[in-house]
Amino acid sequence: MWMLPLWLWILFPGCVAVTGPRMVTGPEGGSVSVTCSYNWGYEMNGKFWCRKRSSVRCSDGFIIRTSGSEAKVQKGRFSIQDNHSLRVFTATMKNLTETDAGTYHCGVVINSWSDPRHAVEVIVSPAPRTATSTSCSWSA
Ligand SMILES: *[C@@H]1O[C@H](CO)[C@@H](O)[C@H](O)[C@H]1NC(C)=O
Ligand SMILES: *[C@@H]1O[C@H](CO)[C@@H](O)[C@H](O)[C@H]1NC(C)=O
Repeated sequence: MWMLPLWLWILFPGCVAVTGPRMVTGPEGGSVSVTCSYNWGYEMNGKFWCRKRSSVRCSDGFIIRTSGSEAKVQKGRFSIQDNHSLRVFTATMKNLTETDAGTYHCGVVINSWSDPRHAVEVIVSPAPRTATSTSCSWSA
């Protein structure tokens, strides 16, 4: 369990925190939604969902973000929407493929070097097989 040192709270009172699930699973070809929450006072900040690449930061990888409004932002198979009254934002990925599996970050835009974020592992489960393929009708 990571604890914020007291001096950090003194230097940066009301430091923003982003929380969410550590892991989500979606079926191949289906969709997955991740809801992350943030604390009071950051409603008007931009919210982002990005794919973590090799580095710690993910601004170099895929990124989708809001401008701080509650308007839904759509980018291809991906979308993100903020909800100010609940202080949550939801990122949705549709038409999942195996290559979508990996580590993503949901976060709040404060400034480029210290955007608070939360890491989420996205798992893509194999597409469910049809009933006919599970019945044993082998053609030898
Ligand atoms: C998702 O897949 C369906 C069926 O293959 C396709 O019609 C649809 O356009 C795709 N949606 C996106 C956002 O790629
Ligand atoms: C935020 O969530 C509340 C409660 O579910 C809902 O009534 C409201 O419409 C949501 N706002 C947006 C912008 O989705």
